[in-house]
Amino acid sequence: MGDPPGFSVMAAMCRGRGIGYKNKLSWWQYPLKGDYDYYMDWTSRVTSPDKYCVNIMGRKTWETTGEEERNRKHVFNIVISRDTGKTLKKDPHVHKIISSFDDAVRFSLSTENREQFESVWILGGEKVYEEAVQHPLCRRIFLTEIMEHFQSDTFFPQFEEEKFEKTSESDVHEENGIRYVFKVYSRKSE
Ligand SMILES: NC(=O)c1ccc[n+]([C@@H]2O[C@H](COP(=O)([O-])OP(=O)(O)OC[C@H]3O[C@@H](n4cnc5c(N)ncnc54)[C@H](OP(=O)(O)O)[C@@H]3O)[C@@H](O)[C@H]2O)c1
Repeated sequence: MGDPPGFSVMAAMCRGRGIGYKNKLSWWQYPLKGDYDYYMDWTSRVTSPDKYCVNIMGRKTWETTGEEERNRKHVFNIVISRDTGKTLKKDPHVHKIISSFDDAVRFSLSTENREQFESVWILGGEKVYEEAVQHPLCRRIFLTEIMEHFQSDTFFPQFEEEKFEKTSESDVHEENGIRYVFKVYSRKSE
């Protein structure tokens, strides 16, 4: 509300910046319900019933989502894919398929859609995050930092920390013996 147009990034990373392994979360053997609930809450929050949160993600990340994530009332799912094949098109929970990150952002923040799209969230994976954190309209980065190392094949990019400031940091949470902290980095005003 009153914020300049832009989007937020939501990610969780372990030590070494890992985010995923073999198309699962790197820490898949240690489910972190608190982190899942945090992500589900922020990325679907609206202030009135006629509004939507746009969730933008790469095709592989989409394939990792479960029914509960895909089918949320106030969420408009955009999947980035160059594949014009039928599988995504047939999926009733994919509201739009767009072939580039920039076009997905342009569509979500366009004047005609701004009324209904209350917030725009970038949900990964690696390449999508890379484009997102470098984009001038990236306003906030919600980063769960997991204080443990897990084998990973996809990573959260370094971002220009001088352009952002840490505006919130939670207490340390612990689940299944894994400790983690919720941090939010906000773009500094120019
Ligand atoms: N920890 C976290 O917060 C988090 C969040 C998200 C994902 N993950 C993990 O990350 C892994 C998946 O990430 P990933 O990097 O392998 O895949 P991804 O980015 O989710 O998906 C890659 C696919 O998305 C499409 N795509 C991505 N960027 C594109 C672009 N700029 N232009 C056109 N198409 C683009 C392409 O689809 P087509 O091949 O269909 O053209 C590409 O093959 C999984 O292990 C997942 O669990 C972790």
